[in-house]
Parts: sequence; structure tokens; C-alpha cells
Amino acid sequence: MIDIPEFSILKEGINYKYYINNKWKKSNSGKLISVYNPYNNELIGTVQACTKQEVDEIIKAAHENINCWDNIPLNKRAEILNKAADLMLKWSEPLGFLLMKEIGKPIESAISEIIRTAEIFKATADSSLQISGETILGDAFEGYTREKVSMTYRVPLGVVLCIGPFNYPFNLTGSKIAPALIAGNTVVMKPPTQGPLTALHFGIILEKAGVPPGAFHIITGRGSEIGDYLVSHPLIDMINFTGSSEIGKNLAKVAGMKPLLLELGGKDAAIVLDDADLEITVKSIVSGAFSYSGQRCTAVKRVLPMPGIADKLIEKITEETLKLTIGDPAENKTIGPLISSKQCEYVQGLIDDALNKGATLKCGNKREGNIIWPTILDKVNSDMRIAWEEPFGPVLPFIRINSAEQAIEISNKSEYGLQGMIFTEDIDLAFNIAQELEVGTVQINGKSARGPDHFPFLGTKSSGLGTQGIKYSIEAMSRPKVVVFNLTERGKLVKKCFVSEK
Ligand code: NAP
Ligand code: G3P
Repeated sequence: MIDIPEFSILKEGINYKYYINNKWKKSNSGKLISVYNPYNNELIGTVQACTKQEVDEIIKAAHENINCWDNIPLNKRAEILNKAADLMLKWSEPLGFLLMKEIGKPIESAISEIIRTAEIFKATADSSLQISGETILGDAFEGYTREKVSMTYRVPLGVVLCIGPFNYPFNLTGSKIAPALIAGNTVVMKPPTQGPLTALHFGIILEKAGVPPGAFHIITGRGSEIGDYLVSHPLIDMINFTGSSEIGKNLAKVAGMKPLLLELGGKDAAIVLDDADLEITVKSIVSGAFSYSGQRCTAVKRVLPMPGIADKLIEKITEETLKLTIGDPAENKTIGPLISSKQCEYVQGLIDDALNKGATLKCGNKREGNIIWPTILDKVNSDMRIAWEEPFGPVLPFIRINSAEQAIEISNKSEYGLQGMIFTEDIDLAFNIAQELEVGTVQINGKSARGPDHFPFLGTKSSGLGTQGIKYSIEAMSRPKVVVFNLTERGKLVKKCFVSEK
């Protein structure tokens, strides 16, 4: 791994510190949390298990600096984001290499996660310059005149708590930090405990880009230990969270009355009609189901094929799946380790349950270390857990259907509502089905995905609350400020109207 001199300040050896007021500190808890490479169990680093007192100190520091940061002109804040993006691009390889090691992401995908985050920072800076308010005259309503004038502009919410998941720990904290900062908020970030190391470098990146002390802070520690305390803290004004539905729902209960942006779990269904283009459908489903070993919220997590295409679709998908490379993320193998042995056991449990209840194994069902071979299960029915649970692993169930109506029913029966897919050449029918699907986004003839990042991205039901995506995130982390002018008769001009021409 390339050694970057600027990175040395955030750690001593492999022991990483937490970040407050542009200072790197060790926790008074004296406890460290180890981070292991999920592929070979190598110890990569440790992070501080911060105390609740340190949580208080960080949030207080962020709270006290809201006005200082918000008073920096928007164009200057935008310039800082662009500088931060340039640093991410400059360091994309060493940061990508560290990311690969801590979450087992194939090296090319890990580096592209850093680059994608830089692009989000640049796009957020550009988009912010277009955000504006509006002015409204009062005479639209009976009893009001134009002397009542409303002027609106946007203001920050205050301290934004950004919490990210293990599968995109750099991108899905960065995609929160950028809009939060550009909107004038100060930020407290808590990275995932499995995958914290790369995200900790935001302290280096943002400070070098010009973020002054007090605007951005990083707390580390297990969510199970400090999470509830963090989200319920009275000085946290908004929470932007990405993670599991279980944690997200708990967070919503504990947080209290404050704006939330929650991006949660998914069970995205691919509906495949008889006339679907086989090549496009197979390519989309194999890539959508198995990239990063299925550890994506928008992974294809169930396939609902009509009878006329089902057999050839399953055979072709199985054939392509067997070609996927398996092994070391450093060698850019498509199928690498799941994030933990515990996750592997969970995924294996879903496979065993389906097979015990009569599903047909087409390929996979093999494990070595934390690697589970891509597994395809045919003839899955609603009695099987894999039909409903989110595996977050390389398992793809086929639930055969007999009509579009049945596909809609099965798709909507899920507790999740992130995205859905429809593969067909009949765009009119696809649009009609799309309107019936209870999801945030429907992809027609493509795999479910969050990108491109200026698109609105949202989940319904157990998949989330609120909308992210460049301009949507800026709006979600700001609010309107309304000033109403009640003008007087003074200065009213005399106007001669409808004077007779005679
Ligand atoms: P997770 O276990 O829910 O953890 C997500 C984050 O929440 C982590 O930083 C975690 O910290 C923190 N956390 C844990 N307990 C908390 C608490 N009580 N209060 C506040 N924060 C707490 O999810 P994950 O395993 O990292 O990610 C996988 C899940 O995220 C999947 O369900 C996936 O579908 C979902 N996801 C959704 C999207 C989307 O855009 N919709 C994107 C990516 C992932 P610790 O690491 O310290 O526990
Ligand atoms: O699970 C991460 C989620 O945000 C999906 O992102 O770009 O892989 O669809 P993407």
C-alpha cells in the first residue's frame, strides 16, 4: 500500500484516532475495536471505542460552530468541496486499497467508490449554487393584497449526524457529508465499525480542503453501544442514516422529533415477461445480483419469471453465473468474502431452509472461509425464508409466476419497497406494471441501482424514509426560512386605470 505522509496524523501505527475540532485524539475509554480483513482475517487497524462523554464533547463542538460555518459564503463552501474532491481523486488508489482490505470489496470497485464520492462532492458543489428560494405576493387569497409579500430562502438544520453502512462506508458517508456541509450544517460522522478506516480520512481530506475547526467531526465506536445515545442527543438536529431496516426502525423510535433521512434494506424483484430481451435481462440480473457478492441494498434479490421464458432464463443465468471469478478482492475477483462469518452463517441458513423446503439448487451452495459461492435457487415458494428476507449475500431465488398481476402481488407483499425491475419489450405494459409496484424506483430493462447520483433515490415501507440524490439531499438537510413583508399604504402609487377614452 502506498504510504501517504499526510495520512500519518490520524493514527499511531495501526491505531486510528477519532476527530474533534480538526484534532485527532485517543479515547479516554482506553478501549480499541479491531478491524479485520474479511478475506484473510488480517488485522488492518483499530479504532477508538469513544465514550458518551466524548460523544457529548463532539456534538457540543459541532453545535457551537453552526453559525461560524454557515456564515462562510456558499461559493467558498462550494470551493472547499471541490478541493476535497480533488484530494479524493489524488488519493483514490491508496484509499481504495485500504477500503478493499477493510470490507473485502474488489479493488477496482473499491477505487471507483472513492472516485464516485469525489464526483458527488463536485456535483453537490455545483448543484448548491442553483438552490434558491421564492417570492410570493399575498393577493392570491381573498382578503389579502400585494402589500403582503413572502420571501423564502433556505437555511441549515444545525448539527447533522451522518451514519453509514459497511458496504459503501466511504461513499455513503461522503454522500451525506457533502450536502450537509454545503447547506451550512456542521457534521458529526459515525462510520461503520466494520469499514471505518477509509472514512476516517475525511478528517484529513476536509481539513486540507479548508474546512475550519468545528465544522466536521468523527466519532468511532460500536453502534450497539453509543448509537442510541448519539441519535437521541438533544443537540443533534438531523440524522442521515444508511443501514439495515432493523437498525433504521429502532433509530426512528429513539431519535425523537428531528428530521430523518433513512436509506434501509431492500428485496428488489426482477419481473421478467415472456418477450424480454434475453441477453439484456441475463446480463442485468447476473451483474445486479452478484456484484460485491450481493452486498448491495439495490442488489437483484429475487427473480419473478413468466412461464414462457423461465426455463431458458434460469439456464442462461446459471451458465453466466458459473463464469464469475471467485477469490481475492486484491485480484479483483467478482465474488469475494462476505463481511463476516456471522453473515455467512445467516446466508447459509437461508439456502439450507430453501433446499429443505424443496427449492432446486442450480449452482453454488459452497463455502470456503467467508466466501460463499454464487447460489441460484429455482422453484422458490412463499414458504421459504429466502422469498422474503434480505440475504445481503450471493443468493438468487427464482419465484415462478403465471401473470403480471401475480408478479405485482408477490412484489408488493414484501416488507421492502426500494426498487423493482421489469424486463419486457412492451414499454406500455411495463409502465402500467411500474405504476402498481410499491417501491421508490422501477427500472425498466435494467438492473436496480442507486446511481447516477443526481437521480432521486428513495425507499418506501421498510426500505426507507425521505429522498437522497444530489439536490434532494441538499433540500433534505436544509429548510425554508420565510420573511413576510407587510407593506403599508405609505409610498403607494396612484394609478389611473380603466379611465374612459371619451
Ligand atoms: P447496520 O448493521 O444497520 O449498520 C449501519 C450503521 O448503523 C453502522 O454504522 C452501525 O454502526 C450503525 N448502528 C448500529 N446500531 C446503531 C444504533 N443503535 N443507532 C445508530 N446507529 C447504529 O447495516 P450494515 O450491516 O452496515 O449495512 C447493511 C444493511 O444496510 C443492509 O440491510 C442494506 O440493505 C442496508 N443498506 C441500505 C442502503 C440504501 O441506500 N438503502 C445502502 C447500503 C446498505 P456499527 O457498524 O458500529 O454497528
Ligand atoms: O447498497 C448500497 C446502495 O446505495 C446501492 O448503491 O450504486 O451499488 O446501486 P449502488
